[in-house]
Amino acid sequence: MNDAPSTSIHIAVPPSPAAAYDVIVEPGVLERLPALLAERAPAASYAVISDANVARLYGTAVVERLQSAGLSARLFIHGVGDAAKTIESWSALADELLAARVGRDRRVVGLGGGVSGDLAGFAAATLQRGVAFVQVPTSLLAMVDASIGGKTGVNTKHGKNLVGAFLQPRLVAIDPQVLRTLPEQELRSGAAEMVKHGAIRDVRHLEQLRDDAAAVRQGHGAALHQLILASVAIKAAVVARDPLESGERAVLNFGHTVGHALELLTDYRLPHGYAVAIGMVAAAHAGEAASITEPGTARALRETLAALALPSSPPMPLSADALLAAAGTDKKGRRGRTRYVLLRRLGEVAQPPDGGWTFELSDDIVRQALAALRPAAAGQL
Ligand code: GLY
Repeated sequence: MNDAPSTSIHIAVPPSPAAAYDVIVEPGVLERLPALLAERAPAASYAVISDANVARLYGTAVVERLQSAGLSARLFIHGVGDAAKTIESWSALADELLAARVGRDRRVVGLGGGVSGDLAGFAAATLQRGVAFVQVPTSLLAMVDASIGGKTGVNTKHGKNLVGAFLQPRLVAIDPQVLRTLPEQELRSGAAEMVKHGAIRDVRHLEQLRDDAAAVRQGHGAALHQLILASVAIKAAVVARDPLESGERAVLNFGHTVGHALELLTDYRLPHGYAVAIGMVAAAHAGEAASITEPGTARALRETLAALALPSSPPMPLSADALLAAAGTDKKGRRGRTRYVLLRRLGEVAQPPDGGWTFELSDDIVRQALAALRPAAAGQL
């Protein structure tokens, strides 16, 4: 039974009108995927790509539903987790797809979390120099972030997402009902990216996240559906203005400079959203210390994160030197210098006088911000 009306957001990605696509957020949309694909992404056949867990929960049923509707479809399964987002997995998947004669008249469907979307998208971007693809995200993080905007790719030993391509999907189909099976830690991780969207663009979205924190943490309800739509709308608006991240799209990296450093220092044991949550608080403290961010912003951000059971302090004492060194390897640095997205206030990013979107901060300011992050009690994560 659907618990909210169908709604969609249209993203027009310049300069090519052909790159415009819809993000449909609709409870139960998985059931009408055959009709939707036939209409929005017609093809001779569909290659559905999932990890083993999502394949068991939804992948087999999706492929059977496509076949029952008279569409040709086949499931391709890759390994579970970030460890599977490698050049080797991409290579194995590309070989399987080529062996199954997946070419330009077929469609690749990424069904799963961010790993499946990124891997499927990168396979689609590179196979025969580009096969159209569709994103069907099943984790909250993939719904509000990874599936929107056309970033695809894999990790290498040099860092995350360092080999990849931009390929906008033909369609993003989001079924919030699948969130019922998502573990709470993954719901929280996705919620951190929603907090980021509110922090950079819309303070009312932040207030709504606080008011409806229970729905987010439980993974169901009409309120969660509306929050997903609001987050998608914020990300879509940024991506439509700067699809290739040559400027404004950098604001989506709020919290990610320290966040990526924390992931690196914890050997990626800290979930991405948790790292971003802590990174956002660090960036708010840094902005306040540099008199760029309105005082009280870090405190308000902490309160919202706490309502969503997200951490705002690292899980262990951190050496500022180690963190500064790790942050220096973030690929968003320009000319080798570490740069930070900062807020003017909640709901608004600050812009430096040169009209850019990121700030270079002195090590002293960053050290002050890191000192303001108290380590969480053992076991919190
Ligand atoms: N996840 C940030 C972006 O898509 O640009």
